[in-house]
Amino acid sequence: MIKNKMLKFTKRQKSVILDFFSIAGVTELILLFYKFGLSYPADWRHFLALPLYFIVVYFILQYAFKLNKILWEFASGKPFLILIAILALDFVVGTALSFLTFGYAGWIATYYYVMVVTCYAVLSGEKLFVVQLYLRKHQLKHLLDVKQSAKNNTLIIGAGWTGSALAKEFINDPSIFKPVCFVDDSYEKQGRQINDLPVAGTTKDIQKVVYRYHIKKIIFAIPSCDMETRKKIINACIATKCVLKVVPPIHELVDGSDAVPQPRDVRIEDLLGREPMTFDFKEVKKYIHEKVVMVTGGGGSIGSELCRQIAKYEPKSLIILDIYENNAYEIQQELKRGYPSLDLMTEICSIADYDKCEILFDRYRPDIVFHAAAHKHVPLMEHVPEQAIKNNVVGTLNLCKLADKFKVQKFLLISTDKAVNPTNVMGASKRCCEMIVKYHAQRCKDTVFCAVRFGNVLGSNGSVIPLFKKQIAEGGPVTLTDKNIIRYFMTIPEAVSLVLQTGTYSQTGEIFVLDMGQPVKILDLAENLIRLSGYEPYKEIPIVFTGLRPGEKLYEELLISGEGMRKTTNKKIFICKQIDIDEKTFPKQLQHLLDLAKENKAAAVKEYLHEMIPTYHQDTAEA
Ligand SMILES: NC(=O)c1ccc[n+]([C@@H]2O[C@H](COP(=O)([O-])OP(=O)(O)OC[C@H]3O[C@@H](n4cnc5c(N)ncnc54)[C@H](O)[C@@H]3O)[C@@H](O)[C@H]2O)c1
Repeated sequence: MIKNKMLKFTKRQKSVILDFFSIAGVTELILLFYKFGLSYPADWRHFLALPLYFIVVYFILQYAFKLNKILWEFASGKPFLILIAILALDFVVGTALSFLTFGYAGWIATYYYVMVVTCYAVLSGEKLFVVQLYLRKHQLKHLLDVKQSAKNNTLIIGAGWTGSALAKEFINDPSIFKPVCFVDDSYEKQGRQINDLPVAGTTKDIQKVVYRYHIKKIIFAIPSCDMETRKKIINACIATKCVLKVVPPIHELVDGSDAVPQPRDVRIEDLLGREPMTFDFKEVKKYIHEKVVMVTGGGGSIGSELCRQIAKYEPKSLIILDIYENNAYEIQQELKRGYPSLDLMTEICSIADYDKCEILFDRYRPDIVFHAAAHKHVPLMEHVPEQAIKNNVVGTLNLCKLADKFKVQKFLLISTDKAVNPTNVMGASKRCCEMIVKYHAQRCKDTVFCAVRFGNVLGSNGSVIPLFKKQIAEGGPVTLTDKNIIRYFMTIPEAVSLVLQTGTYSQTGEIFVLDMGQPVKILDLAENLIRLSGYEPYKEIPIVFTGLRPGEKLYEELLISGEGMRKTTNKKIFICKQIDIDEKTFPKQLQHLLDLAKENKAAAVKEYLHEMIPTYHQDTAEA
């Protein structure tokens, strides 16, 4: 293991070793020839040993003083002074070693030394004066050119295939981006020219390079970069206040074409550092292909993405069911354009309207129902608890009854982490929905009833990101309820892919829980969004803390106590052990709740929710 490590040299190390032996060899030959012509020298060991002493000592000192890390074309006077000091020290140590080994060697030491240094300077091509002076001259000229056209001066992060291809493209048309230099973390590329542009440092040097080259725009061009490193580099770029574009990460470049990936604006997902998830698309296709699929709330953030992804799996037909026509129309038009041969129906209907839903179930006979229709706004539902019940609970009950009646194969409720130990009416209403699903799973034989719980998705309708963006566009302030509030975030496509994946597990009555990764501090999110918009948080856009709203938690949970977690084949999906529903009392309780809601008895609804759901604790919310 250690042996392997020792024998593994980078290209750069190999070139240094090659330099070392070529310098030593050439020096030796020159000296032998100069001193003795073609005759054999008596003191041959001196001739072999002396150059080695000087060069080995030189290399040791160079590494000790970290001169090997210097980008000489950008070096100021100090490293050059250190270099001269090292050469002097090398001479002293080398001569001393030679004296200790062979005794006094007279003129030979000086003579050798001069030759070694000269040869090294000429041959090395890496660090010393001759080459470096040339590079510095070239660099200065480049810097002067750069200054003249500063407006579009662009730094490309990553001098790999994508970076270099983009550089070529923009050198030919510099009207928007004028590539000026690269930064790249590869040690081998440091100081090199790629497409006639210098690799001016590593990603640690971004700020320095931006200053030196009058950079106004940056393109992040490393699609293969892991998401955590990507996040760090993008943050460093944002701090420069340059216009920033990024090439999408590799998992977003799925079309498999050879085209150069084009840079886009930075998205907040780029700053979450989440690794892409893996999905078993074949398994998903198996249960959706050629099936009749209905998506309730199909016009909403999650519902519309469900429709987008389902369309790819070529269902027999897809039914978008939503009460809000504008949303439904938008996704309908998008899918018609994208999938002209898809058998697509759009039905404007409320899930609370049992009779109309029954007509639709009868007409389409869905095989699979994804139920994403709901009122979801926490503060709004606090004021109208009866509406939360009439919509979310009645709607879910209607759909479950119809799924049973029309022998739907799979019924999947989209639930939320707010249903766990709810501290608000919306969360409590969703917990009720989970209980309805479980109740039907216990009683119905023909349908697999299950639910999927997850935390917030990025950028959904009415969520924090669109709100922050609006506040920033209006010049601020950005409002946060609490500086310590944290939330789990997933992208909508990620969450929906996982939801579809859960459909491949066929056990009825399960609640699937999606692993949301690391929670995000909302304050960090707000600061990043402000920086992304080109402003300085607090200085240019103030951030104001308004206090937690009634029913709002500092952090969300995904499990109710008593629910254990079981793994699935997908490491991001867990199954929680469901608490059984008492089939005698639950229907009565449910009916009572619906009666109270029907009579618009808001306070009584809230109170009764507490009774039905023992984990509902409004009073313990950090209000
Ligand atoms: N957005 C998130 O961050 C998130 C996270 C986890 C879970 N969820 C859950 O996913 C579900 C959908 O959330 P979303 O973000 O897509 O919300 P959304 O508001 O974007 O979409 C909900 C859709 O449901 C429709 N709808 C509401 N009531 C209806 C009714 N009675 N009949 C027919 N259609 C109706 C709305 O018109 C809307 O198009 C909710 O239950 C929510 O709790 C959302």
